[in-house]
Amino acid sequence: MTSPTRRTLLKAGGAIAGFALAPRIAFAQSDRIESLIAKMTLAEKAGQLSCFGDAIRPPRIPFNPNAVSSNAAKQLADIKAGRIGMLFNGVGVSGARRAQKTAIEQSRLKIPLVFAGDVIHGLATVFPIPIAEAGSFDPDLAMRTARAAALETTAVGMHWTFAPMVDVARDERWGRVAEGSGEDTYLGQQMAIARVRGFQGSDPTDPSRVAACPKHFAAYGAVAAGMEYNTVDISMETLREIHLPPFKAAFDAGALTTMSAFNDLDGVPASGNHWLLTELLRDQWHFRGLVVSDYTADEELIAHGYAADGRDAAKKAFTAGVDMSMQSGLYNKWLPDLVEKGEVAEALVDASVRRVLTLKEQLGLFDNPYRSMDYAREKTQVAMPATRALSRESGARSIVLLKNDGDLLPLGKAPGKIALIGPFGDDKANLAGPWAFMADETIGVDIASGIRARLADPAALTVVKGSEVEKPIAGGIDAAVAAAKAVDLVILAIGEDQGMSGEDQSRVAIVVPPAQQALAEAVAAAGKPVIVLLKHGRALALSGAVKQAPAILACWFLGSETGNAVADVLFGAVNPSAKLSASFPNYSGQEPYFYDHRPTGRPAPDEGDQAYKARYRETKNEAMYPFGHGLSYTRFTLSDLQVDRELAWDGSLAASALLTNVGKRAGTEVVQLYIHDRVASRTRPVRELKGFQRVTLAPGGTQRVRFTLKRQDLQFWGEHGWTVEPGAFDLWIATSSVGGLRGSFDLARA
Ligand code: GLC
Repeated sequence: MTSPTRRTLLKAGGAIAGFALAPRIAFAQSDRIESLIAKMTLAEKAGQLSCFGDAIRPPRIPFNPNAVSSNAAKQLADIKAGRIGMLFNGVGVSGARRAQKTAIEQSRLKIPLVFAGDVIHGLATVFPIPIAEAGSFDPDLAMRTARAAALETTAVGMHWTFAPMVDVARDERWGRVAEGSGEDTYLGQQMAIARVRGFQGSDPTDPSRVAACPKHFAAYGAVAAGMEYNTVDISMETLREIHLPPFKAAFDAGALTTMSAFNDLDGVPASGNHWLLTELLRDQWHFRGLVVSDYTADEELIAHGYAADGRDAAKKAFTAGVDMSMQSGLYNKWLPDLVEKGEVAEALVDASVRRVLTLKEQLGLFDNPYRSMDYAREKTQVAMPATRALSRESGARSIVLLKNDGDLLPLGKAPGKIALIGPFGDDKANLAGPWAFMADETIGVDIASGIRARLADPAALTVVKGSEVEKPIAGGIDAAVAAAKAVDLVILAIGEDQGMSGEDQSRVAIVVPPAQQALAEAVAAAGKPVIVLLKHGRALALSGAVKQAPAILACWFLGSETGNAVADVLFGAVNPSAKLSASFPNYSGQEPYFYDHRPTGRPAPDEGDQAYKARYRETKNEAMYPFGHGLSYTRFTLSDLQVDRELAWDGSLAASALLTNVGKRAGTEVVQLYIHDRVASRTRPVRELKGFQRVTLAPGGTQRVRFTLKRQDLQFWGEHGWTVEPGAFDLWIATSSVGGLRGSFDLARA
């Protein structure tokens, strides 16, 4: 008999696993809302369009600069005065009930508050950072972890998460690559859909569901040079083909809200961009949900040099299409004046207020204002065993086996004496990764604990820090080398700490910090076998002893169950199946590096003369470990590629290959389908991912893996919008974005 909480999780997981959910989300005209709007003053309307960091439940760790610029008493007074529509990043039922009671009992119109928060990859129980989980290539897993996150989020008095982050990012210098699904648009679309469905389910009035908020609209992932908050200057083709599709997929999956981005887009800031927020989002895509600005992004129109002052910024953000202003207070301050002076139509204000009230109605807050504010749930549905087990599953499924020379891995039960060396061996402070400010750190499992739990003799494990994250420890390397000399096997736990990843953490060099590199060089010189466990929020450019190690696992930030997930893979309880969602380049200087680059007029040949070809002096422009790469403890082969010779204009094309497990243990492979349009009116990427399937096979097992393509899968943004052009295409069925079985087909004319 499963406990109610576990059953809730499983039922929800089961209910959403695998099949499409037609979101039952009403945007119907509501008499209640219309009668409220008719009664509201301009000040009350501006209040519903304003949100602030929760000062009644101030976060333990500030999420943003000056996150809480108020205090509980003042905020309660503002709620009573109808100056607040939403509070964000507050945790806890009692504080939520206190605020809500003020809103529905003391304010004039008794409109309930909605509570939001940054639950990006889990709340108290933390899951792998999204870029890592995307590497599972398992949308159902992402849906389940999003569902579990929603359960915890609504157990502590929140209704709306500022997630999923769906920015496609192709420059690993940018710290926020950690929050997205990597460099590929197709994978990003699948993960966006999965996470929206996991968060929202099919009935957002369900008190265990949250409104989703695909962000940051749009193209924040394209910041120039990977520098945080930098300008974005891209072609319409790149915007349409690379950065917008995951948003469109999320909206089509029923996302109720979105967040406008900080960045300018070709000279017009996203949060003041009428083309983006109204002409595209509303008029072309018919999105009917709510647009909330990013944190003070409306006020930042001034710094952009796009608005003259606060009043101008409020006017430009609002008329562009930002319904709700986050943290700046500009709408409270200026919207009434702008309407009274005839510079903003009250009907436009009413339309935005309608969207806010509609969201509250869709979440059931008018009928049940204390929805998701249940003391019993707060006690029983946070950090449940089932949720932690899911974190462990997702963690193990997110680890990429980059290298395993001599089949050093998996370790046996008694692998001899082990030295676990590096700043992350028994570290608990960096398990969660960025954007996990609400994590319950008491439940975190560090790597040393996870390994010890698997050893016949836990005393066989010695832990030596050897170095800090970014600076040496006096005597640290000597101690580490001595430990290495005394054991049979070294495990290096090195990489980035979580403070080097996420917002405001762009790096000029995406490398293992030099202090740790020096540690690795010294330890490797001791001559024992070395397994590298990388902790990182981005792809890294590996070098020296780290790169030369016989076994390397990309462990990202795996969340609460890090140690258990790592141990499950190290000791073979889980056969790794994840693939890279972001390419590991040879050098930082190659960034932005992405597999789906265009050919150029002088592509560097695989072999032969490289002079005057598209490459660097130091290296060909290729990845050390490419997108889609990941090994297994078994081996798979692909054979017998079969591709229809022609794709009829209105038909579909079948492509398939035989996958065989030629190794000695069961395993899962991610079979990937790529295409290349050989000749078109726009230069086309050398490869584009158009499908993937996870296939599990017993030793000796074989399965024909089948894909179907239609001409719509081949479209690109041409001179007059979306287009498909007849002609010859290359096709690969592969297990990485490099290599695989190559075929071709023709798209016939209409
Ligand atoms: C931050 C982030 C955004 C987040 C918001 C609220 O600056 O850009 O992703 O949701 O502010 O914390």
